[in-house]
Amino acid sequence: MSAVAFERVTLSHGGARPILCDVSFSIPQGAFVGLLGANGAGKTTMLRAILGLIKPLSGTISVLGKPPTRGNATIGYMPQARRTLVHPGISGIDFVLSAAGGHRWGWPVASAIEKEAAWKALEAVGAGDLALRPLAELSGGERQRILIAQALIGDPMLLLLDEPLISLDAAHQRTIIDLVHAIGERLGIAVLFCSHEINPLLRAVDRVLYLGNAKAAIGGVDEVISGPVLSKLYGTPINVVRVAGRIFVMADDVEVEAGTHVHDV
Ligand SMILES: Nc1ncnc2c1ncn2[C@@H]1O[C@H](COP(=O)(O)OP(=O)(O)O)[C@@H](O)[C@H]1O
Ligand SMILES: [Mg+2]
Repeated sequence: MSAVAFERVTLSHGGARPILCDVSFSIPQGAFVGLLGANGAGKTTMLRAILGLIKPLSGTISVLGKPPTRGNATIGYMPQARRTLVHPGISGIDFVLSAAGGHRWGWPVASAIEKEAAWKALEAVGAGDLALRPLAELSGGERQRILIAQALIGDPMLLLLDEPLISLDAAHQRTIIDLVHAIGERLGIAVLFCSHEINPLLRAVDRVLYLGNAKAAIGGVDEVISGPVLSKLYGTPINVVRVAGRIFVMADDVEVEAGTHVHDV
C-alpha cells in the first residue's frame, strides 16, 4: 500500500484549463518527497485534493489505501503561511491545542488527553520550552516549529507541509528540513514537503514530485531535475546548471525557481 497514489487524476478549480491533467504517481510509505513547481503550478491544490477538500474531475486518488476524506486524522497538514494568526498573543501550546480538538478556538476546553498530545507534539519538534510564549514573540524558525507541531497532533501516518521554508533564512531552512526529516524517519511516515526551490531540500529528499504545465514528474533528483524533463513541465527550453552542490533551473538567463522570476507557463 502506498502513502499516496494518483491514477490519471485531473484537478480543476473550474477555469478553462485544469490545474493538473491526467496525472499518475505513487509515493511509498516512509518516503521523504519534495513537492516542487513554480508559483501557481498546483502544489497547494494537490495537497488539498489529498486532504479531500477538492474532488478530482476524473481519476482516482488514494491515501493510505483509501479514498480521501475530509478531516482524515491520519494526515498531518501544515497549510501555507497563515499571515493572520487568529490571536497574535496566543501561546504555542494553546495554538497546538486548537488542532487537538478540531477547530475549536474557545478555551479552556482541552481535555487531559488533548493536552498530553499537544505537549508530545511540541517536544517532538523541540519546542517544549517555547510553548508558553506568545507566537508573536517567536522568531520565524521557532514559529514554524510550532506550526509543524500542530500538524503532528494525532500521530499522523502522512505529513503534508505546504511551504514551511517560506521567509526563513538558509540556516533556519536547514534546521526545519533536518527536523522534519528526522521526525519522518523516526515515525516511519511519508512526508510531502512543498517548496518552490529544490536546493534547500537536497539534503533530505528521497525523491521529488515536480509539477508544471498541468503535468507531474516523479523520481530521484537527477532523474527529474534535468533539462528534458523540466522543459516539458515548464513548456519552454530549460537548462539545469549544477554549481558547487547547488542546482539552478534556468530558462534563457532567468532562474525559474527563484520566486521573483516566476515563469508564466
Ligand atoms: N480556490 C481557487 N479558485 C480558483 N483558482 C484557484 C484557487 N486556488 C488556486 N487557484 C489557481 O490554481 C492554480 C494553482 O494554484 P496553487 O495550487 O495554489 O499553486 P502553488 O501552490 O503551486 O503555488 C493557480 O493558477 C491559482 O491561481
Ligand atoms: Mg501553494
